[in-house]
Amino acid sequence: MRITLTRPDDWHLHLRDGAMLRAVLPHSARQFARAIVMPNLRPPVTTVAAAADYRARILAALPDGARFEPLMTLYLTDDTSAGEIRRAAGSGFVKAVKLYPAGATTNSAAGVTDLAQCGAALAEMEKTGMPLLVHGEVTDPAVDLFDRERVFIETVLRPLLERHPGLRVVFEHITTQEAAEFVASAGDDVGATITAHHLLYNRNAIFAGGVRPHYYCLPVLKRERHRAALLRAATSGNPRFFLGTDSAPHARRAKEAACGCAGCFTALSALESYAEAFEQAGALDRLEAFASFNGADFYRLPRNEGSVTLEKETWTLPESVPCADGGELAPLRAGEPVPWKFLG
Ligand code: NCD
Ligand code: ZN
Repeated sequence: MRITLTRPDDWHLHLRDGAMLRAVLPHSARQFARAIVMPNLRPPVTTVAAAADYRARILAALPDGARFEPLMTLYLTDDTSAGEIRRAAGSGFVKAVKLYPAGATTNSAAGVTDLAQCGAALAEMEKTGMPLLVHGEVTDPAVDLFDRERVFIETVLRPLLERHPGLRVVFEHITTQEAAEFVASAGDDVGATITAHHLLYNRNAIFAGGVRPHYYCLPVLKRERHRAALLRAATSGNPRFFLGTDSAPHARRAKEAACGCAGCFTALSALESYAEAFEQAGALDRLEAFASFNGADFYRLPRNEGSVTLEKETWTLPESVPCADGGELAPLRAGEPVPWKFLG
């Protein structure tokens, strides 16, 4: 069996920089025409000038002949000015601004400590239609790790949208039934990305027979009822849910450590994993809209030309991918079979 889709895009991707960028970029560029590139580098991408430089480094790292368009984002801080948002909106290549609550996830230390500080920048985003991409977790250590997304909706996101009713928001990598319901009941200006791993796995995967660091990401995998709700949302046909892999590579030694980094490296089998999840839901016919139309429509960008084909054929993911700095990256499900194969 084969399925053919309009060439898809990845609306949430970590490409990193330097040797890591060169190691991971070809995998995403093989499958996706464009990607929204996360700005959580060290130091973070907080200005249009830094985004232009990063974009140039990504284009320079592309394999010969690859066609791939990086869609850039700015990292929101307490100090982001309305002027920087105006320049971003005028740049043509910055497509969104990312909110990391300070301390919520990898490289978020410079993130927002108090959204009330960001009023001028958010008002400018409302005016220009620049989407705010939200890492939706509270950072209060008193809140249980598995509740941080649910609590964020009521204490941060809903009040934010009340203060800024014209703001366009993408609730990134949603992981709970509550987030799926919030997005479904919100207006046309609120969308959400969903990762393949949150469609395929629940939190048992992190602890299957021992601790499995490669399944640790943020927001963390949740219980089965949430996975089922995300799969229903992704396959519902609602155009405000779309594909965002959140492929987030970390060197193996940084994952398999006493304090392992959050992030799953999924770019090697991204589209295949979504096909697997949609097939399980009996909804392969809904994959194309989720992967290739909904995100472009939300971002008000043209849909891609051309197509890609997947075949129902089992192949085995490699144990690792070399990274030029002498390290290696382990993909999620390393050495395991994948039932769909990307043909190009
Ligand atoms: C991401 C990373 O490693 O940059 N990690 C993750 O677990 N998803 C950051 C993020 O998207 O939260
Ligand atoms: Zn991410």
